Amino acid sequence: MTIELAVIGGTGVYALGELADVESHQPATPYGAPSGPIRVGTYAGKRVAFLARHGEGHSLPPHKINYRANLAALQALGARRVLALNTVGGISERFGPRVLACPDQLIDYTWGRIATLCEEPGSEVLHVDFGEPYTPSLRRAVVAAAVRAGVGLVDGGCYGATQGPRLETRAEIARMRRDGCDLVGMTGMPEAGLARELGLDYASLAIVANWAAGAGPDVDEVITLQDVLDNVAVAMAGVPGILRALLAG
Ligand code: HPA
Repeated sequence: MTIELAVIGGTGVYALGELADVESHQPATPYGAPSGPIRVGTYAGKRVAFLARHGEGHSLPPHKINYRANLAALQALGARRVLALNTVGGISERFGPRVLACPDQLIDYTWGRIATLCEEPGSEVLHVDFGEPYTPSLRRAVVAAAVRAGVGLVDGGCYGATQGPRLETRAEIARMRRDGCDLVGMTGMPEAGLARELGLDYASLAIVANWAAGAGPDVDEVITLQDVLDNVAVAMAGVPGILRALLAG
């Protein structure tokens, strides 16, 4: 049976509160097992799947996540559209803590991750178009849903994907700013590229948890996990409204 929307939760988002009549699945994929059980249920009257990217107990660091298995498992369950929730740091002025954003570009600074489906011997080599890394129609639907829901959301922004799990140095963030990044996170790639290879519609709903290193008004600010989680919890208050409007639209 098709799934209207698959949601992948990031740091601080380990379940979808309003998901009802939930069944759990953990399909095997050619790439191995996903990060944890996929919860499939009803959300605003539609079939929705949810997967916690880092595992429900946040046990997987960004470079250990099996991104291929996560997306292939969602696709095997019938998902065609994926909305990725990404907890991020803010670099440029419009992207302060607790802001929600729907980025339209990305730069990949990660390394050593399996970033393609073409690794297996004998598999076809794909050179997918990635000029628009997020599916424009799904991005537009998310932005319109936020407007209908009356939830503030910045339309656009460039997401820089770093390796982690450590946070960045101030010099790294200064370089990313010069490169044109507005947001920094650790899981945006290879997820977006793999989604394109799999033919899935994919967009990111980024939740700004903190100013990236040296980017905020207090240059010496130390970023703590508690601040990250507190800000995500506040910003997440707007997400159910966006999801309901997206599913209704
Ligand atoms: N950097 C990278 N990833 C993040 C950050 C950050 O400052 N905050 C939340 N995820």
